[in-house]
Amino acid sequence: MSGPALRNVDSHSLIHEAALEEARELTGVLEHCLQSGELPKALEVAYVALEHWESRTLQHAASEEEGLYLDVLAQRPDLQSVITSLIRDHQLMRILAGEIKELLMRQNAAQTDNIKQVLHRFNALILIDHLHNEEEERMIGHEVGGHVHADEEAI
Ligand SMILES: [Fe+2]
Ligand SMILES: [Fe+2]
Repeated sequence: MSGPALRNVDSHSLIHEAALEEARELTGVLEHCLQSGELPKALEVAYVALEHWESRTLQHAASEEEGLYLDVLAQRPDLQSVITSLIRDHQLMRILAGEIKELLMRQNAAQTDNIKQVLHRFNALILIDHLHNEEEERMIGHEVGGHVHADEEAI
């Protein structure tokens, strides 16, 4: 999803909430598998959760950096520091996803300690993404009035 949907605070917020809710559910399943000692299943769920972050939130982040953020800056150059912070959040999420991938590819990937490390990072992703989304939605809603190009709303 890109273009006008990202420029409207309501549709953008729905995209955030849907992806984050799914991530929370997958992380909950991972935690349950870990607690009940189902380690091979935990590993499988972790792969699904990583794929979820990569294909939804990190893809969404790339779209924003290629489109929405550039449009915001063109209209409001004074928001450079806000955009820089938001891009840093994206980078932190990419770093965590990369660390998860590395942990999942280890020889001992399905061991309890390794899965715990993976779980910590999924929880960190959820917290960072939640805070990031709030800041981003504030920027779209208040700073640029819910849309950057009013004429694009009809597209
Ligand atoms: Fe973002
Ligand atoms: Fe976003």
